[in-house]
Order: sequence, then structure tokens, then C-alpha cells
Amino acid sequence: MTRLFKHPLNDGQFDAIVEALAQGELVILPTETVYGLAADAFSDTAIQAIFRAKQRPANNPIIVHIASIEDINDIVADVPEIALKLAEAFWPGPLTMVFEKSEAIPAAVCAGGNTVGVRVPNQQTTQKIIEKFGPIAAPSANLYTELSPTEVKHLNAELLNSVTIVVDGGDALVGIESTVLSVVDNKPVLLRPGMISRQEISAVIDMPVTYKKIVVPDGKAHPSPGLTKKHYSPKTRVVIGTPPRTPERINVGYISYTKSIFANIIQQVHQVESPSAYASQFYGSLHLLDNLELDVIYVEPLPNGEDWQALRDRLERASS
Ligand code: TXA
Ligand code: MG
Repeated sequence: MTRLFKHPLNDGQFDAIVEALAQGELVILPTETVYGLAADAFSDTAIQAIFRAKQRPANNPIIVHIASIEDINDIVADVPEIALKLAEAFWPGPLTMVFEKSEAIPAAVCAGGNTVGVRVPNQQTTQKIIEKFGPIAAPSANLYTELSPTEVKHLNAELLNSVTIVVDGGDALVGIESTVLSVVDNKPVLLRPGMISRQEISAVIDMPVTYKKIVVPDGKAHPSPGLTKKHYSPKTRVVIGTPPRTPERINVGYISYTKSIFANIIQQVHQVESPSAYASQFYGSLHLLDNLELDVIYVEPLPNGEDWQALRDRLERASS
């Protein structure tokens, strides 16, 4: 039986989580981006359990979450100068940095490669759990290629079968997955766009940030799971565009940010036209519409510009 602990947790509940993690069990924890499927970062068997539960291919690395930059030396072999500046500017927060890995980190966390992704999440309860237990490895708490959860009600029942405890921390405020940046060799390379933009990163380190958009065809070997073409997808087909105007009612939904009214569709969700507000609602809206058994979910094309880049990326993958 999976136990559900609601924020704020009492001491007994914190102890139960630490105990479960120590036993190599899986727990679902809130973060500011999306909910994570967490396990002991130093336990190879616990990491294997994450891969099984998510039905995720073994060639996809998992992010390690730590309480503060002070814990990084156990995880990574080298901390480049730019990483210190970026940690100072953005941690705790939605930035994952990829480093050369330490000996102590199991190969499975890094999908057999020699790098490891690390971040400090900005969510109080989860921070406290990491402080008490130590580093945890956590991918998003969804099945492989499906939509990430930003609320406990989004969690997949099949996934929950593998989980001992779920911590309900309310809505994930950022709402989409962290920015992933390689800092190996002190060279900044963006691997996955997120709400911390390339420009913001550049400004802190006073260096250009490379971004080569990689889209790996489904089924091929790939360096990062978030780079497969089909990812972050609801079960319902997603189309970027506006619904057709028809005389009869059609079984479609629409996510918009400009106020155009489509009377003959099942449900329209209006989102706020600011990147951060849009992001915090986006997966929630997709989950909501995905539960209505619609034929198609239309999503209004997003604006151009750097501050919408991460959302355009997620929308494109959801519609692949
Ligand atoms: O916001 C987030 O990052 C959430 C929360 C739970 O922290 N986690 C998350 O994990 O989205 P996941 O496993 O669903 O996505 C991990 C991403 C991959 O897309 C990949 O690009 C990158 O992190 N990644 C992790 N380790 C890496 C490594 N060693 N090298 C390159 N990319 C890595
Ligand atoms: Mg994921």
C-alpha cells in the first residue's frame, strides 16, 4: 500500500521517508518543477527500481538532487568555475548542471556514461528530506514518454504500485522540468531548455551558451531522455493550432492565451500570457484535457522569443 503524506509533514513522517529511502524503496516527492520519483542516489538496486517503475530505457541518465552546493564533492569529480557562479545565482532552483561523475555514484544513475546531472530543488519539504537522508536520484514521476505530474492527482496508478510513500506538496510552482546545462570542461552547453533561459545563464558567467537542438528519433540510442522526439506527451493527440470553426459541436479541447472564443468545442482553457504563469499551468491543463477523452487537444502556437523557448520545446515534443 502506498502511503500519502500531506504537507506539512510531522517528524514521524520525515522519519518514515528516510527509513524507506534507506531500505532502497521509492518515494514520490514534490519539487518546484515537477514531482520526482526518488531513491537513494548511492544505491545501485534502488536506481534499478526507478528504471523498472518508469519503464525507462537504461540509456537515460537520472538527475541527483542535493541539499546545497556543499554536498557536491561526493557526487562529481570536478567543479568547474562557471558551476560555482551558476550555483550561487540559481540554486536552489530549476537548473540542473551536468558534471564529470565521481567514483561513488553508481553507473546506472549516469546511464553508463561518465557524467552526472545535479540540482538543488527549491521545495522546503523535499529540501528537508534531502538534508536528513542525503543525495537522492529522481527523474520526473511519470511513465517513460508520458506527461510529467505537477500535482499528486496527475500521478499514474501503475507507477504508484512501485512506490512506498507519496508526499503531497501542492502544485509545482515552476511547472515544467529544469533547464539542463552541461558545465563539463567549464564549457556551457544547453541540453534541455527550461525556465532559466540561456540569456540568464550567459549573463551570470559572461560567456555564450551553446545550444544545438537535438531531436533523436524514437527507438534510437540517445544521450538524454528529454531529447527523444515523443516525450512529455498526453495520451490524446496534441495539435499546434486553433480548432476549426464548425456549425456542429466537435469533441476537441483548446489551450489558448489570447481570448478567442470557440463556442462549439468541449472545453477551452485560457492561460495567462506570460511565460512563467503559462508554464505553471501548462501540464495541469494538458492533464485536465487528457482526461476528457477528446479526439484532439489543440494548443495555440506560442510566441517567438527566448523566454518562450522552453515552452515551445515542450509543446513541440507533446505534439510529436
Ligand atoms: O525538473 C527536473 O529536472 C525534474 C525534477 C524531478 O527534478 N526531473 C526530471 O528528470 O525532469 P528526468 O529524468 O525526467 O529528465 C532528466 C533530464 C534528461 O532529459 C536529460 O536531458 C538530463 O536530465 N540528464 C540527466 N543526467 C544527465 C547526464 N549525465 N548527461 C546529460 N543529460 C542528463
Ligand atoms: Mg521526465
